[in-house]
Parts: sequence; structure tokens; C-alpha cells
Amino acid sequence: MSRMAGEGATGRRTWHERATRDDVAARAGVSSATVSYVVNNGPRPVAPETRARVLAAIAELGYHPDNIARSLRVRQTHVLGLVLPDSANLFFAELARRLELRADELGYSLLLCNSQEDVEREATHLAALRDQRVDGIILVPADAPDGSVPSVLDGIPVVALDRAPPDWTGDSVRTDARQGGALVARHLLGLGHRRIGFIHGPLRLAHARERLEGALLVLREAAVQARPEWSRPSSFDFAGGWEAAQALLSQPDHPTALCCSNDAMAIGALAALHARGHRVPSDMSVTGFDDVPLATYAIPALTTVAQPFDAMAATALATLLERVGEVNAGGPGLPPRQQTLAIGLVVRGSTGPARA
Ligand code: RIB
Repeated sequence: MSRMAGEGATGRRTWHERATRDDVAARAGVSSATVSYVVNNGPRPVAPETRARVLAAIAELGYHPDNIARSLRVRQTHVLGLVLPDSANLFFAELARRLELRADELGYSLLLCNSQEDVEREATHLAALRDQRVDGIILVPADAPDGSVPSVLDGIPVVALDRAPPDWTGDSVRTDARQGGALVARHLLGLGHRRIGFIHGPLRLAHARERLEGALLVLREAAVQARPEWSRPSSFDFAGGWEAAQALLSQPDHPTALCCSNDAMAIGALAALHARGHRVPSDMSVTGFDDVPLATYAIPALTTVAQPFDAMAATALATLLERVGEVNAGGPGLPPRQQTLAIGLVVRGSTGPARA
């Protein structure tokens, strides 16, 4: 068979010279519309012999339908954006995994971008996703010093997940951070702890603040004093937990329990306790927040607040796709919804009765 313009020795073209529907039509000796009927399985029937010729031409030329052109026509790409602070954070890695599984079930692909908690980087990613014409975006907003959200979205549906900045007026899906803090505090009080310390996240983030406030309220109701010197700020990672625990342990007087604002901090704190010869839970109980897969394999396994990963993923995607439907229908849509999901406590080996 003769070569067509732009074909290499294999008969296939390079990516930039991809074969078009017209090339397939010319090779198979049919109209371009017939190629479309074969590729899309309709809307008109194609005789089996003609279909076989078109399929052979498609294979010979390595033809792939141009999804971008198609998306422009139907105004849907079935691709969603996911922008989150850091996929190396155990919590976000798990959340992204569950979102992708759910999106896949719903017939969507996800494009993942990391903001690294940097609002400028976040704005760049959002603009790139907008230009890629994603159908919608799930955003875990970066830790903006002024709590603002980039204004590049141009009417694309967005759902804020896990965090929502103070001025966010759109849809959001969060979990009940105060409830989580309260569950941990009640659990520790129930084990007889009265000397409770905290390693908490950056307090300008609402969920970090609310986790702490939920626990402090329970202590106050039980007339248990929270000593300021036993409360340490930390980044939401292993190193932050390690350093904050080291600082707490270098004081002459220690708490008997340590509430950490996420599992990574708690695992860092467990390592610091081990390095200094403290036993968990007999010398000190430790709690986390998130229930990431690693929490089960920490030594000892971590008592923690379980974030409802599947429900977060399903709710965020359902909300987003409802909005996508509204945009496509051209309707005004329902008012934004702020949804808060309940969370629970998982008790494992890192907590035990308070030392006498
Ligand atoms: O910002 C990081 C933390 O917030 C995660 O570990 C998780 O707890 C999330 O809610």
C-alpha cells in the first residue's frame, strides 16, 4: 500500500502528525461521516464489509479520535481537576486515591495538581485546569495567609474539600473537626488522664483550630486544666510531630497523654518518645487524627479519629457533578451547600490508662 503524506516508514505518523478522520476515510475509500458512524457506533448503520475496511484503515494509520475537538463540541471532557496541598501528606494521598476510585466509577478521570500550600502555585494550577477545560474542580485550598481563594475560576464548578477559607461562598465538604477533638479528649479522660498535652496544626487553618477547641471544651467541662506549656504548634508532618514532642519532653514536667492534630504528627511524636526511652502507652498515651493506612502499622498502632474518606470522596464528587449538570443545563442551580460529615474514634494500642 502506498504511503500518505506525513507517514513514517511504519505507515504511522508521529504524535504531532496524527492521522485525521479524513485520512482514514481516504484510505478506506468511504466518506468522513462513515468513519464517524463506525467510531461512534452510529447514529447510522454501516455495512459489515465497509466497517471492516474502516477499522483496517484506523489500525494502519494509528488513528485516535480527537477527544479535544469532540469535547469542544459537546462541552464536556469527563475530566475533573483535583488541586490539593501536598500528595506526600498521608491524608491527602489517601483522599486522592479514594477520589480517583470514585471518579472512575462515575466515568471521570482526575488530573492531580499539588499547590505545596503556595497560593500562587495553586492559582497557576487552577488556571491550567481551566484552560484544559476540565468539567469541574475539587480544591483543598492552600494555607493562604489572608484566607483568600484565587479568582481564576471563570465559572467552572468548584467544591472545596476538607478545608474552606473564611470567605468561601461556594460548595464545601468538610468533616466535623470539633467533634473529632471532643472524641479524643473524652477518650483520654475516660482512661483517667488529667495531664493532657497538644501538638496542634497552624491555628490560622480553621480545622486545626477547631480540633483543638473541641478537645479544650471537653477538658473545661470536666474542670481539667490545659497547661499552655504543654501545647505546641507544629506543621502537619512527621518532622513537626517529632520536634514538638522533643520540645515537650525536654521540660521537667510532662503530660501523661499527647493529642496530635493528625496521624503524621503522632507518628513523629511516637518516634521521639521511643528515641528518649518513653514507653507508649504506659508512660504516655498518644492520639492522632485522620486514620490513614499507616496508623494501623505504627508501633504501637495509633488510636485516632477516623476521617470518612469514602464519604468525603463520594459527597464531594456528587456535589461537583450536580453543579456540572446545572452548568450544562444553563440553569441558575441550587444555592451553595456547606456539608459537614461526622467522624468517629478508632481505639488502638497507643492509648492506655493514665500512670498513677
Ligand atoms: O492539612 C493537613 C491535615 O488536614 C491532614 O493531615 C488532615 O488531617 C487534613 O484534614
